[in-house]
Amino acid sequence: LKGHDHHMHKEIHEQPASLQMTLRGRVNAADRKFVLGGLTSLERQLPNVERALLFGCGSAWHAALIGEYMLEELASLPTSVEYASELRYRNPLIERGTLAVGVSQSGETADTLAALREVQTRGATTVGVVNAVGSSVARETDAGVYLHVGPEIGVASTKAFLGQVVVLAMLAGYMGRRRHLSDDRLIEFLEGLEALPDKVKEALETEQQMKELAYALCDREHWLYLGRGVNFPAALEGALKLKEVSYIHAEGLPAAEMKHGPIAMIDKGMPVVVLAPKDGVYSKVLSNIEEVRSRGARVIVVTSADDPELDQLAHDVVRVPETHSLLSPVVTSIPLQLLAYHAALAKGRDVDKPRNLAKSVTVE
Ligand code: M6R
Repeated sequence: LKGHDHHMHKEIHEQPASLQMTLRGRVNAADRKFVLGGLTSLERQLPNVERALLFGCGSAWHAALIGEYMLEELASLPTSVEYASELRYRNPLIERGTLAVGVSQSGETADTLAALREVQTRGATTVGVVNAVGSSVARETDAGVYLHVGPEIGVASTKAFLGQVVVLAMLAGYMGRRRHLSDDRLIEFLEGLEALPDKVKEALETEQQMKELAYALCDREHWLYLGRGVNFPAALEGALKLKEVSYIHAEGLPAAEMKHGPIAMIDKGMPVVVLAPKDGVYSKVLSNIEEVRSRGARVIVVTSADDPELDQLAHDVVRVPETHSLLSPVVTSIPLQLLAYHAALAKGRDVDKPRNLAKSVTVE
């Protein structure tokens, strides 16, 4: 474990290096290109791709939701995201020109594999976004891009989740390059990707703050995680992380949905974690923070903004570095992983092997 008490802690701290591996040789801002060798066999089919369908389970499904924003924004590709377990039992309508992307760390998740086989029989071209080399999903897809983050042992996905987000980002840029993405936007995105490992390293410096918050608040039974845009799935992932390793009840929501019902749950001291990087929806998120704060919530804000108004509104401000706006979940996720890890320890849980869970879910 090389100086770490648990695999989860080691894997969280490995992320600057593991993302470097994910990006290595694939992203080149100077040459303005993405090099995704695993997709070359699809070169002739790619111009006919008209839509994308992403699927997976758990954290992989969250990564796919982030991928949806990226594919739509960078590649103007209409995209939908499905739980693999739901996709396989529906009558999925696979139109011509559908690129189906299966996202899976293990490549052995039963529902993901079954969904893959289902869309294949219906004529989709399939791509795997997989970590385990030679796994079933990797073998059965037409093409793929490996995460290359190394083995993930902790049951809670951390480095594989971020690897999935980064691979989907590269896929979006790669498709964008073949469609309408301008040179300026392409270069900006490539530079954003190249800068990520250093930004993740900086975000890891939030650990002491997250540890203190975890110990101070671990007796609260219900937590909310809020975000908008690409940070809505990051909020879902933050809530899942807390649930699975600490067994505390947590829910992720799009921040603006609060007023349609969930805000009724807020009572004095309820922890609400808000993801508010400085991006196009920042001012909207500020209003959402006001809404929950005025109802008594204990507000923890993860942000890249240096804003006195926010300092006034939040009880705790967790600072992460600014990134390309589509890539911000990669840094906002770091303090949430650390919060979940320390909350689990504060509650005396078996953080690498939470109860009732297995690393790879090979049953339906
Ligand atoms: O191996 P996979 O990526 O297919 O696994 C999917 C989920 O079972 C997995 O992400 C699960 O939700 C994790 N325990 C989350 O931390």
